[in-house]
This record gives sequence, structure tokens and C-alpha cells, in this order.
Amino acid sequence: MYRTHDCGALRMEHVGQEVTLAGWVQATRNLGGLSFIDLRDRYGITQLSFNMEVNPELCQEARRCGREYVVRAQGIVRERTSKNPNRPTGDIEIEVKSLDILNASVVPPFTIEDDTDGGDELRMKYRYLDIRRTPVREKLIFRHKIALETRKFLSEQGFLEIETPYLIKSTPEGARDFIVPSRMNPGQWYALPQSPQTFKQILMVGGMDRYFQIVRCFRDEDLRADRQPEFTQIDCEMAFVEREDVLQTFESLMRYLFRQTLGIELPEFPRMSYDEAMASYGSDKPDLRFDMKFVALDGLRGGGFQVIDNAPFMRGIVVKGLEEKFTNKEINDLTDWVKRPQIGAKGMMYVRYSPDGVKSSILKFYSEEKLVEAGKAVGAGPGDVILILTGEKDAVLKQLGDLRLEVARRFELIPTSVFKPLWVLDFPLLEWDEESGRFFAMHHPFTSPLPQDMHKMESSDRETLSSIRAAAYDMVINGAELGGGSIRIHDRTLQEKNFELLGFSKEEAEHQFGFLMGAFEQGAPPHGGIAFGLDRVCAIMQGSTSIRDYIAFPKNNQGRDMMIDAPSEIDPKQLKELGI
Ligand code: AMO
Repeated sequence: MYRTHDCGALRMEHVGQEVTLAGWVQATRNLGGLSFIDLRDRYGITQLSFNMEVNPELCQEARRCGREYVVRAQGIVRERTSKNPNRPTGDIEIEVKSLDILNASVVPPFTIEDDTDGGDELRMKYRYLDIRRTPVREKLIFRHKIALETRKFLSEQGFLEIETPYLIKSTPEGARDFIVPSRMNPGQWYALPQSPQTFKQILMVGGMDRYFQIVRCFRDEDLRADRQPEFTQIDCEMAFVEREDVLQTFESLMRYLFRQTLGIELPEFPRMSYDEAMASYGSDKPDLRFDMKFVALDGLRGGGFQVIDNAPFMRGIVVKGLEEKFTNKEINDLTDWVKRPQIGAKGMMYVRYSPDGVKSSILKFYSEEKLVEAGKAVGAGPGDVILILTGEKDAVLKQLGDLRLEVARRFELIPTSVFKPLWVLDFPLLEWDEESGRFFAMHHPFTSPLPQDMHKMESSDRETLSSIRAAAYDMVINGAELGGGSIRIHDRTLQEKNFELLGFSKEEAEHQFGFLMGAFEQGAPPHGGIAFGLDRVCAIMQGSTSIRDYIAFPKNNQGRDMMIDAPSEIDPKQLKELGI
């Protein structure tokens, strides 16, 4: 028998019992006549003790064990003389009677501790060693719980988990596809799904009125901390529902997940239109853990200061109570920050309401009274600072949104362990792209317009078309988009119209999505759904900024798997067989 207990199980009540444990050597200590091994497995660490006087051979054997050796120890549970209150098993140790080295280990390339000395790439290369570390292991266990609870909740609500294919057809919309050659159909290719979107809609036509799937999706896009080329969705679809039904169902799912896994009761989710989110926070996923809503500062207009009077658009944020932190150095630093190409502002104006009067980059152009008055109008007073950006509307909103987040980060205004969920609603249906001179679907081409905007679909005016709102929604928590979905088009004519607005010719639309439009003619029920990023849900719930640690085998920023060294070249023979 390899073990009677795991390394996290033994307590005072087991004292005197004979046990067998197996695991990895976390550390060894030799103190004169005594030797100790910290034995680790998935469940914890237990101390093994060896006495040179009692059994010198066994003690020697213990001293041969290096870090990460795999051993089995059999012995008696004893109360420790010096207890370790930081460890659940810290009251006891095992007085070892026999020890087997099951496998030796070379010295690991980084320390297997909570705080490791291993860099990202090294940890990815030796991912199996990283997974032995508590923080990574705990995250994978958390992910398991989220997946399990999701399945429980949705099954209880009558959702069926149904698998959809991974080898599908490439589509030009959305991100780039990963493609797979077909040996049996030379010159033809499959694509890996970016999401099961069309299949889940077809399942609704098939009468499976509540579907979900915890499913891998593949997108060949640029990678960031919250994006992987393969990631997992909790993908859901419902038939005979309106937007409200979907919002209620998935708000309940999220509340359930927080309750079951973190013991946290989320409040009811506030709702905000896309327009309001953009106007107030410069983002379609505002972080509501802190305030700093945009202010218009109309009081400064028409005062004769050209930069402001001639600005097409101006907005500011009020930073409450931190005036003295906005030293000249800090202001210069932030100004440089907004002028970086990634942000792209031309400059930044400020007004500081300090105890010895107003300090401001625009004091030359306004009286102190005027600045005090303008501040009052937007809720800024003594001890506060206003930061102001001017320029084209969309640019200012985006730049100020970035600045708002940066200020919050720099001055630590974001409370931890707080969750601020919301629904963002009424996204635009279509987004004009200057470069290609065409509309793109903001969510995807299967999203329905809001019923009250349906009539605008017939327009040929770009403004009117841009103003069509979609029955689309995103669930946002703490500034991260956890999920997004929509009520779908289920009518062939409307779907054809939408493809036409997106620049598809009739033939292209038929070629790409004829199967779906055909299904719409065969009794398609009204339907809608949503998909959550499972990796993101886990990361946000645990306050982490990176989804990588929630993925057992993630890819690096170049999309490489460092452990198996993929992607890699292919044998020419294999290529030939594939007709490439
Ligand atoms: P969408 O493209 O918004 O919608 O994706 C849904 C959710 O998936 C997560 N996500 C990602 N997570 C990690 N890495 C990525 N590269 C990545 N891309 C997306 C996000 C996002 O909110 N079929 C539609 C859903 C629907 O309409 O029902 C879809 O895929 O958390």
C-alpha cells in the first residue's frame, strides 16, 4: 500500500496510530542526531522525523533524499515537541519506521515554494513543477469547483450539456481562425471554433431549449494577460426567452457561484447602457469599485482660453482628497503617461484646490474664483484635484477612461476583496471601420437589433445605421468583461439584411451561413444566450489579473507552449500527405 493517509490529514487525534504516507520531499533538515523531512502532496505537508540514535541506517537514508524525491514513509504519529501553528498538521510528526525512495529527482530549476524564484518562462517549461506549488494548485482546484458548481446550477435549471464539433468551417468574421488541413479532402480546411455560436443556435432550432457547454474556444489573436489563444467558455443558449430572462438566469448563476465558492452574497446587478458607460467612464466595462465619473466642466467654456474654447470635446475627472499627492513631479509624470502613443492625448490640464489657493496649469487664463466656481459645479473643493483632457470626443473618452484607471492604480484607490458587478446593455449593433470602409458587427452577426430600432435596418444612412442598438449585453465585474451575449435574429429575412449591412454579398452570406439561414426557415424559435470566459471568471473571483494560472497548460505571449515546444515544424512527408 502506498499510503493510508494524505499529507494534510493527520492531527492530534491520530497520535499513536501507525500510518503510511507518500509524497515529495519539500525540504530536509539535519539537527545533530535528528533529521526531518517535510513531505508534501496535493493535500498538505507532514513532518517526518528520524533519530540517529534509534535507527542510524534509516536516518542516513533520510539524509540521502534530495528536494522533490518521491518517497513512502511508514511510522507512528507522535505529538511534536515544538509545534508549527502555521501548518494544519503542525501539532504532529511521523516517527518513521521505514522509508522507501520511490523515485529520485534532479535538483529542480526553481524552488517549489509559494514565492518561487522561477521566472514565467521557466515555470511554463517545467509546468509540472509549478503545479506542485500551492498557489497554482489552489487555482486549478478553484477552477474545478467553478466548473462543477456551474454544471450543478445549470443542470438544476434544466440546461443540457451538449458537445459541439471542434472541426468546423472557417468564417471571416470575428478574430482569426486556427485552421486544420483535411487529408481526406485535399486543398480543404477545417477551422477550430472561436465559439460554438452557430451550433448552439441550431440546437435551439432542434428544440433543445436550454443548452450549455463548458467548451474550449480558439482564437488567433494578439495575447494579453486576460487572453489566451485557447480558452474556455461557459457557453449557454435558451429558446423562448427575452433579454430579461437571460439577464435574470445568468445573474443568478453568478450569484450562486460567488455564494458557493467564496461565501459572498453579490448585490443585484445595476444596469447601464453602453452610451452611459462610455460617457461616464470612457469604457464599455467600467470598474465601479471606485468613483471618478467624468465631469463636463462646461463652466470653463467661453472664457477666452483658446485650448478649451476651441476643443471639440472636453471632460475631466475629480480626484477627491488627494491634492497634496499631485506634486509637480506627479503631474509631469501623469502628463507624460497620457502622452504616450498607447494613450495618445496631446496633454493634460489640472486644477489643484490646495490649502494655499488654487494651483493650476490654466491659472493664467482664468481667475481663481472662476476655477473655484467651476470646481464647485462638479463637486470639487478643497483638497481635490481635477484632471482635464480635450480633443475629439471618442478619443477623449477613451483616454480619460485610461487615465481614470491609472490614477486609481497609482494612488491605490481600488479596494480589494470588493466585487462590483453590472450589466452593460444596448451596445451598438454595427461599428463603422474607416480603414476597410464597412460596418462590422460589434458583438457578432447573429445579434438582433432592439425591437424599437428594427425599422432603422432599412436605412442607407450611415449615421442612422450606427445608431441601431443591439439586444446585446455584457456582464462586467470589477472592470473585466466576464461574459457577453445577445438575443439572436431568428428570421431569415432579417439575418440576410444584417449580412447585407455587414458587406456580405448574397452569395457570400449563403456560402458561409446558408446552413443557419436554412434552419431559420424550418421553425426557428426566438432565442438568446450568453457565454462567459471561465478562465476570466476564476481570475476575477480570486482577484487575479492573469488568467494563465487558472489554465493547467497555458501559452506564453507568443502563443507558444513552452513545455512541449509547440508550435513546431511538420515533417515534409506529413505535409505531402495533406496535399500542402
Ligand atoms: P465573446 O466573444 O464576447 O462572445 O466571448 C465571451 C467571453 O469569452 C471570454 N473570452 C476570452 N477569454 C480568454 N481569452 C480569450 N482570447 C477570450 N476571448 C473571449 C470573455 C468573453 O466575455 N458566442 C459569443 C457569446 C454569445 O453571444 O452567446 C461569444 O463568443 O470573458
